[in-house]
Amino acid sequence: MTTIITTAGRPDDKSVKLAEIAQKELGFPIVQRNKKSINRLQQELGADVFVAGKDRYELFRTGMEKPFFFHPNSAAFRLKRLQNGEFDPLIEAANLQSGETFLDCTLGLASDSIIASYIIGAEGKCIGIEADPVVAFIVQYGLCNYKSDSEALLKAMSNIKVYHSNALDYLQMQPDASVDVVYMDPMFHIPIEESTNFTSLRQVGVHNELTEQWMTEAYRVSKKRVVVKARFDSPLFEQYNLHRNVRPNTKFHFGFLSK
Ligand SMILES: C[S@@+](CC[C@H](N)C(=O)[O-])C[C@H]1O[C@@H](n2cnc3c(N)ncnc32)[C@H](O)[C@@H]1O
Repeated sequence: MTTIITTAGRPDDKSVKLAEIAQKELGFPIVQRNKKSINRLQQELGADVFVAGKDRYELFRTGMEKPFFFHPNSAAFRLKRLQNGEFDPLIEAANLQSGETFLDCTLGLASDSIIASYIIGAEGKCIGIEADPVVAFIVQYGLCNYKSDSEALLKAMSNIKVYHSNALDYLQMQPDASVDVVYMDPMFHIPIEESTNFTSLRQVGVHNELTEQWMTEAYRVSKKRVVVKARFDSPLFEQYNLHRNVRPNTKFHFGFLSK
């Protein structure tokens, strides 16, 4: 299925400019909106529709009820909890400290990366790898342009460097022990039903399994820990000998390998 770029229904100069930026970056053609509905454009052109709105991008793949767009998702309340001195399960599993480097191999909506970026601060380095080019583009733009009253959230978002790549390809180019923590959160086979925020990401993102080779490369590149998020009943914990932080009554757990 091809993808076309169009503007908001009543485009202003900003929407037109955003469409041009997206075309340059993603290479999809721009089609004039002419007040047509997304549904009509999808049907007439037989294409997925990427909308440059007034202040954000949205992707309507055919068959999706709601578009994919950037929002900090769970990161906003997780960050507030950290500010109140509460713990975060990812930070605990990664044993992440201020000034460290964090490589997120499966960026998605970047909620986990935002939390890691907040902890490591401006002295640290947070890198997010995303295999889907449109997800990478939308999230990269969102991280730099999302509006919020929280200075801490804005700072954490703007300190994440996004790369569009397959995680394995990226890892293979990195030297041994070059980042403190390497993190993987591939799509769960069976979705967690309450997790509606992720529904549109599940529909647009890449569904790759964690492989032996991916884990070996992650371990080689990490200096301190490799962390994996998976469903509580996932075989990955045993398969890769991950030390698991069991959290009763939670549907997903973090597992880690220490060096
Ligand atoms: C479950 S989501 C990650 C959610 C993320 N932890 C967050 O906080 O928003 C998995 C993401 O990883 C991406 N992905 C899957 N396999 C990948 C791979 N081999 N390399 C890079 N990204 C991958 C998917 O496209 C999807 O966006």
